[in-house]
Amino acid sequence: MRHARATCVTVSIDRVDFREPIHIGDLVIMKSAVNFAGRTSIEVGVRVEAEHLNTGERRHTNTAYVTFVAVDRNGRPIPVPEVVPETDEERRRFEAAQQRRQRRLDDERTGRSA
Ligand SMILES: CC(C)(COP(=O)(O)OP(=O)(O)OC[C@H]1O[C@@H](n2cnc3c(N)ncnc32)[C@H](O)[C@@H]1OP(=O)(O)O)[C@@H](O)C(=O)NCCC(=O)NCCS
Repeated sequence: MRHARATCVTVSIDRVDFREPIHIGDLVIMKSAVNFAGRTSIEVGVRVEAEHLNTGERRHTNTAYVTFVAVDRNGRPIPVPEVVPETDEERRRFEAAQQRRQRRLDDERTGRSA
């Protein structure tokens, strides 16, 4: 919503893998970034880490890619600002997001789920 400055609804969540357990008492840290924007949709990458509060050890436990669509008051898709990647990391995320988007659209066409 901060990127679009509009109401956004979730249209798709890619497969979520649980790489490691998160234990009771761990601090859960979620980092997210807007990776890519299409005409009306935005891909946000989310990285979840668990921090052991006594030792400070941090583990990467989950990653997920969530696609949102900006909508007007009638729930119809509306255009979003483009994403202009500036750093190498942003360019890498942008390109990877483009490939995932293509796969999602292909899967949608063939009726497969992500
Ligand atoms: C999101 C919604 C408005 C899109 O409507 P739609 O008729 O599919 O709209 P469009 O076909 O114009 O697609 C809009 C955008 O969504 C993208 N999209 C559609 N289905 C998608 C899917 N399964 N995965 C990823 N992106 C998808 C399209 O690629 C398009 O992106 P672009 O404009 O950047 O190219 C509609 O599907 C909806 O209201 N869904 C319910 C949302 C909801 O209730 N979410 C809560 C879940 S907890």
